[in-house]
Amino acid sequence: MNWETLPDYDVLSDRAAEIFLEAILRNPRTVLGLPTGRTPVKMYERVVAACCRKYHCFSDVVTFNLDEYAGIERTHPGSYYTFMKQHLFNFIDIDPANAHIPNGAAADIEAECARYERDLAAAGGLDLTFLGLGSNGHIAFNEPGTPFDSRTRVVTLTESTRAANASLFPDGRVPTHAITMGIATILESKSIVLLASGEKKQAAIERLRSGEISDDFPASALWKHPDVTVLTV
Ligand code: GLP
Repeated sequence: MNWETLPDYDVLSDRAAEIFLEAILRNPRTVLGLPTGRTPVKMYERVVAACCRKYHCFSDVVTFNLDEYAGIERTHPGSYYTFMKQHLFNFIDIDPANAHIPNGAAADIEAECARYERDLAAAGGLDLTFLGLGSNGHIAFNEPGTPFDSRTRVVTLTESTRAANASLFPDGRVPTHAITMGIATILESKSIVLLASGEKKQAAIERLRSGEISDDFPASALWKHPDVTVLTV
């Protein structure tokens, strides 16, 4: 695991955007795994700023988001679909058919998870995946206790995760379930970059740094992968 400790969140975002842009410029057909949450917001800002100056930056890029809330429509202001439009997709030339996000409002949610895995395999699998870090060590919505061989599925969110994300649901109706890529799905990405910044993440960062691998702490599965970069402050 390659650790880069940056001076602050701005520099961390610059570095994450640099890795992102290098990947899509080197291989215009890159398949990316993309996160949501507060941490990657500035990385997306930087990517958008750089791509506004370039022609056809994203025309052949394929993206798969890590997760989505279940039981809300895509158009809900708190959905990850809305987040991705607001922070990335509205500003770049990606083909909407190449921008994949699980549909948390699907009538048959189990079939939706299976379809997502099939689409990911049909795209050739993930080349580069960016991850955030939950303060309890979750990656995507894989909460503590998740088996490392898990794949895309429906999960129940912990109360701490629901509380951490409650600000996006001002009516208080924070979803209780989500669709998430599994840990095994994420670990199949050729490269992984984890972004962790902020006071609330310090304990999780230290636990990850300790090198102890345990399914109590989902991010520790990343120690099993040969090409992980952790960007932290
Ligand atoms: C959510 C998302 C994760 C994200 C995490 C951290 O639960 N499902 O993918 O990494 O929160 O979010 P933040 O960056 O806002 O701290």
